[in-house]
Amino acid sequence: MPGTYGQSTCGQSMTRAAVGVESVGNPLQVGLLGLGVVGSGLVRVLQENGEIIGNRLGVGLEIRRALVRSLDKPRMVSLPEERLTTNPRDILEDPDIDIIVEVMGGVEPAREYILAALGRGRPVVTANKAVLAQHGPELFRAACEHRAGLYFEASVAAGIPVIRSIVDGLAANQVQTLMGIINGTTNYILTRMVEDGTDFSVALEQAQAAGYAEADPSSDVDGWDAAYKLAILASLAFETYIPVESIHVEGIRRVTPVDIAYSRDLGFTIKLLAVAKNVNGSIEARVHPTLVPQHHPLAAVRDVFNAIFISADAVGELMFYGRGAGSLPTASAVAADLIEAADDLLRGQLPLLVRRNPGEWPVKPVQPITETRTRFYIRLSVCDEPGVLAAMAASFGRNGVSIESVIQKSRGKSPVDVVFVTHDAREADVRQALREIEPLAAVHQVASVIRVEDGTAGDKCESGGSARG
Ligand code: NAP
Ligand code: HSE
Repeated sequence: MPGTYGQSTCGQSMTRAAVGVESVGNPLQVGLLGLGVVGSGLVRVLQENGEIIGNRLGVGLEIRRALVRSLDKPRMVSLPEERLTTNPRDILEDPDIDIIVEVMGGVEPAREYILAALGRGRPVVTANKAVLAQHGPELFRAACEHRAGLYFEASVAAGIPVIRSIVDGLAANQVQTLMGIINGTTNYILTRMVEDGTDFSVALEQAQAAGYAEADPSSDVDGWDAAYKLAILASLAFETYIPVESIHVEGIRRVTPVDIAYSRDLGFTIKLLAVAKNVNGSIEARVHPTLVPQHHPLAAVRDVFNAIFISADAVGELMFYGRGAGSLPTASAVAADLIEAADDLLRGQLPLLVRRNPGEWPVKPVQPITETRTRFYIRLSVCDEPGVLAAMAASFGRNGVSIESVIQKSRGKSPVDVVFVTHDAREADVRQALREIEPLAAVHQVASVIRVEDGTAGDKCESGGSARG
């Protein structure tokens, strides 16, 4: 007996004729909202590879109008002057425009313009993770209601087709773990800091000059850009809606040259990792600087490159790698979406994801960070005197935090750094141990606490809170 599979409530999209373009063979008309790093990259890809794209798609793609803030600004690509506008209505209300591409960035007015386009039955391609992560359900409901496609491959990991891979390639799987480097700017900065000792602010300026950073780069360095992307990936992978506010987020501002040096001595490198796991039906979602063993594949992901490791029940383990920011890599993903949007429009079909109606997916609980289990790197600044180490080790032991290794540097010069690396431990237990350690007379400060991920299943001898160490 045929079953009822989900609640696919959307019908078919508007056909090209229905949205007002009758003559097959003429290029489809694209309205571009934004002509900055990504918008210019798209124009370049369409100019340079337009013929190939036209042959593959069976119809050409033409930029009819492009929305900008300033008409006087020098542009990285040449478009006839009359195609630029500062009035969004010239694009959103133009009946001859078939597909809208939003590459402006920011939440408003991008959200308003995307909704306006969908409301008119126009397919929308966007690279905007901030708007998707914060308003995804509303946008998907509008897409479903108005039977318009919504495409967003470039919103996560730029040139890497990871969204397609999760939505289509892993459609027969249940994803268990997603873990990766999904912000190019911070990976670039950390690579420069680790490999050449470049100062944080200099490396950030270099990332901005290369077009990797967001308009407000604090979104990159404080971890929010990665959190938006993790919210999108985890929502798709676990068929739910993960609000960004439920993700534990730490950026890279507190990563110091001292911790970089110790982590190197210990055989690790520091990466800003985004991690999402399905732990018995509740979701673990976090973004933070992480020590990764130097032999781990993620440790080899340098500069602007991103990588996403996925573990799923049928396929096993997968890893995706490529450029996670920049004009052409991002434009590659936007152009691919544009081609898919054009093809769907010509066939009068909606993408499967929109038909699955993610706007109505149930919210699953996100586990508090205090309940997560990882290894920890903990650096304390202490007086170099007898009994300090034993007192600290006793606090860890009382709280069930098992110590894997401990090193002390700058012997004889007080205060000294003592660095602990723990076995897998519950975060709440580590925090409690540090609350007990911090007031000890010989302890100057808990200088840094960084989680450690090694991609293994954990400590075989772990006995759920037994006091060791
Ligand atoms: P950008 O260089 O700052 O370009 C933004 C463009 O949008 C500019 O042309 C700007 O006009 C226009 N614009 C912004 N607000 C506007 C408004 N209110 N009205 C009219 N025009 C407006 O940004 P980008 O780097 O291309 O990023 C665009 C989007 O792609 C963002 O959502 C970003 O997160 C995403 N993305 C970027 C990358 C990357 O590597 N850069 C990678 C993946 C995804 P003016 O030129 O006149 O100022
Ligand atoms: N600012 C983002 C990054 C752009 O550095 O990863 C790509 O989404």
